[in-house]
Amino acid sequence: MFKPHFTALAVTAIDGKIARYPGHLSDWASPEDKDALHAELDRSDVVVVGRATYELVKDRLDSRDCLVFTRSVKGLVRQGEHCLYCNADQVNLADVLVQYGYKRVAILGGTQVYSWFLKHNLIDELYLTIEPLVFGAGLPLFATEVADQHYDLVAVKPLNHRGTLLIHYRKSSYANT
Ligand SMILES: NC(=O)c1ccc[n+]([C@@H]2O[C@H](COP(=O)([O-])OP(=O)(O)OC[C@H]3O[C@@H](n4cnc5c(N)ncnc54)[C@H](OP(=O)(O)O)[C@@H]3O)[C@@H](O)[C@H]2O)c1
Repeated sequence: MFKPHFTALAVTAIDGKIARYPGHLSDWASPEDKDALHAELDRSDVVVVGRATYELVKDRLDSRDCLVFTRSVKGLVRQGEHCLYCNADQVNLADVLVQYGYKRVAILGGTQVYSWFLKHNLIDELYLTIEPLVFGAGLPLFATEVADQHYDLVAVKPLNHRGTLLIHYRKSSYANT
């Protein structure tokens, strides 16, 4: 059976923020985080990203297949060799993934897209890099209310000597419905 696997990838400050403001690039993340991110993206069949984030990083995603969430199209519209625009609430995502043979799905954010996947209880794994800095305000990782979703810790890995941590969580079978 074709069962897609969803992995969310995010880098946050100590206070859980993914950006200071909408449009803030993640250029504050360490080179070691970027290496870990690209290694995981290399294992993925497709990257799912919100239109706002896509506009910021599309040059770096050029050669990767991307599913860009946007309400600017009806359903699903091809936007180039590697890019599909997707109005997420108008399509059946599972059908889209089957149609294109995308089994390993990397969720690249930002807040709205992470939240959409959380709300639909679709995040199987989460790679969370924590950088040793504080923004004090900004965009959270998630901004939607959900019933508790439990994750098991798989690994914690220091990525450098400056205090960057990569935390790997996997959805727990405990109490997740
Ligand atoms: N630190 C990290 O790991 C990380 C990762 C990714 C992004 N970021 C940062 O996050 C910020 C952007 O995050 P964001 O939350 O503002 O924007 P976003 O999630 O990247 O994109 C938001 C856009 O996605 C589309 N969208 C959202 N929900 C949708 C739905 N249900 N159906 C269809 N389309 C939908 C809409 O596009 P339309 O307006 O076209 O309809 C919306 O404006 C940037 O600063 C970026 O650098 C950080």
